[in-house]
Amino acid sequence: MSVPTHIHSVPLMYGSVRLYAGSSCPELANSIAEYLNTPLCDRDIVNFPNDNIFVKLHRSVRGQDCYVIQTTSIPVHQNLMELLIMIQTLRLDSAARITAVVPYLCYTRSDKKDQPRVPITARLVADMIEVAGADRYMTFDLHADQIQGFFSIPGDVLYAFHVLIDYLEELTGKMHNPVMVSPDLGFAKKARNYAARLDIPLAFIEKRRLSNAPTAKALTLIGDVKDRDCILLDEEISTGTTIATAVNMIKEHGAKDIYVVFIHPVLAPNSVDCLVALPVKKFVTTDTIPISAEDKAKFGDRLKIISVAQLLAEVIHRANQGRSVGELFNE
Ligand code: R5P
Repeated sequence: MSVPTHIHSVPLMYGSVRLYAGSSCPELANSIAEYLNTPLCDRDIVNFPNDNIFVKLHRSVRGQDCYVIQTTSIPVHQNLMELLIMIQTLRLDSAARITAVVPYLCYTRSDKKDQPRVPITARLVADMIEVAGADRYMTFDLHADQIQGFFSIPGDVLYAFHVLIDYLEELTGKMHNPVMVSPDLGFAKKARNYAARLDIPLAFIEKRRLSNAPTAKALTLIGDVKDRDCILLDEEISTGTTIATAVNMIKEHGAKDIYVVFIHPVLAPNSVDCLVALPVKKFVTTDTIPISAEDKAKFGDRLKIISVAQLLAEVIHRANQGRSVGELFNE
């Protein structure tokens, strides 16, 4: 039997880009769509009175390369379920490939059994994303890079380093005797990369959590902050306890101006009130999670948000074209 030749003339490896946004980060999704010059696809997301979520696509995605943009911030379970249901909807409509674009992945702090009789919820979330039907995922700065191993699908784990570093170079240029301070040993390795690139010294705070309650105690400062301007760098701020403890500690050790840089603005309820009361000159973060207008107003001009949209758009473009992402970072 002869095969009609037009069957072989498929122009793209995975079909055209189809962008779908959940309801968790509309501004970021719109910016990505603008950078890609590709509109967000219409869909309905309905919350029924029984709290069940329903999704309907307005047009077929058969054979297309689909990206679901949904961050899994507070309300975590609503946002996570929306993500899963959207992925399954695309799968059932025969999308050629589905990528979960999750700028902030929830539950990554639950990544090991560090006490008896506890779950590893990060693994469960990875499994759920796969079972829903995702072929790939994209995210930023996981709590621990090893979490990549919880997925058996490929992923692009991106680093906010690439979007923050220019601003931080400019900032440290204006600082007096700058030092990078890592308030959590878990993030210290990444903080070292920032410090090396900025050519400034690094200090650490050894912090120990005392229980599952949102309390943290800073135990020891390793390094010199006296008469220096400090950048406290952490992967996320949730309750603000870690940063508040760190700020107080370095102040006691003679730090001068303090800048707080954090990648994921989780900002649990009441955290912003605690943060804005701290003697911090500037808070620098990204839009992997949207910050409410009310919280932005509380920070005022002490808040600087640097967007990850352009980087995500470039990575989506490359993924669609089957091009290297590492090349973007000269890797
Ligand atoms: C911890 O492992 C992280 O790097 C952050 O230090 C932590 O998630 C911050 O949480 P919180 O703001 O509740 O102290």
